[in-house]
Amino acid sequence: MAYMNKKKELLDHKLPAFIESVEMPESLKDAMIYSINAGGKRIRPILMLATVEAFGESIEEAIPVACAVEMIHTYSLIHDDLPAMDDDDLRRGKPTNHKVFGEAAAILSGDALLTQSFEVIADSTLKNEQKVKLIKLLSYSAGPAGMVGGQMADLNGEKQELTLEQLEYIHHHKTGKLLVYSVLAGAIIANANEEQMEHLKEFGEHMGLSFQISDDILDVEGDQDKIGKLPGSDENKEKSTYPKLLTLTGAKEKLTFHFEEALKHLTATGIDDKRLESIAKFIVDRDH
Ligand code: IPE
Ligand code: IPE
Ligand code: MG
Ligand code: MG
Ligand code: MG
Repeated sequence: MAYMNKKKELLDHKLPAFIESVEMPESLKDAMIYSINAGGKRIRPILMLATVEAFGESIEEAIPVACAVEMIHTYSLIHDDLPAMDDDDLRRGKPTNHKVFGEAAAILSGDALLTQSFEVIADSTLKNEQKVKLIKLLSYSAGPAGMVGGQMADLNGEKQELTLEQLEYIHHHKTGKLLVYSVLAGAIIANANEEQMEHLKEFGEHMGLSFQISDDILDVEGDQDKIGKLPGSDENKEKSTYPKLLTLTGAKEKLTFHFEEALKHLTATGIDDKRLESIAKFIVDRDH
């Protein structure tokens, strides 16, 4: 999709520039830049920028915030792949960070991306009041009540039969919270009203579940070339997944349900210019 490619190109250019501008040991910079440039789809920052534009606002001041969420996402993946966590060798079709730079540099480059993301927002040209809201919401979304909490629950749930409710807690948190952040941050930057924020939150939550169900399905039926990592990782780690709990057909039905709910809420915001809808479709499309 041309819109997404254009935004991706912009982000691919801006993201490393934030890191390049900082004085630090070259070995740390190399490890940070490696993962930042490793070919992520930039789904979260693109969602954010598209939300800002859906409200008719300019994305100029939103770019640092969009980069910040991608930095946090990238940190989470570097750490997620570590031997102590998922112990994966491939990410985005390339060797994982610790395979190239070693575990210590992988841990530190993740720490560095996480920490710098808040500085990037603080240094932006947005109003102070907006910056505080954006930083607070990002800490919440990425932290213990958000993504990190979801990752812990995910690890705790390995080798166990989880209920659908437990599985949804995991996905709402480990994947959903940053996606919800992305649309809400766009709404904060564009000064959306309360009702619109509420619908965007629901949109983000259903998109989070849709995205993760799709990720689980790909782990069963995807191939390495398409997903950039080895399939079968969930099975090997004896993880509860949607296909395991609901069968592959049941998981696909759930995906359709959450995706349709997401679109209903998007329509209810009254802002859509169809671009956000196409991005949402791209996110759950199991063939990219
Ligand atoms: C993968 O996210 C990890 C999850 C949270 C499910 P993405 O599929 O957005 O990863 P990249 O950034 O495009 O590699
Ligand atoms: C990653 O979840 C979620 C994070 C917040 C890092 P997964 O472990 O399921 O993601 P993949 O399958 O490694 O991309
Ligand atoms: Mg994991
Ligand atoms: Mg993983
Ligand atoms: Mg997965």
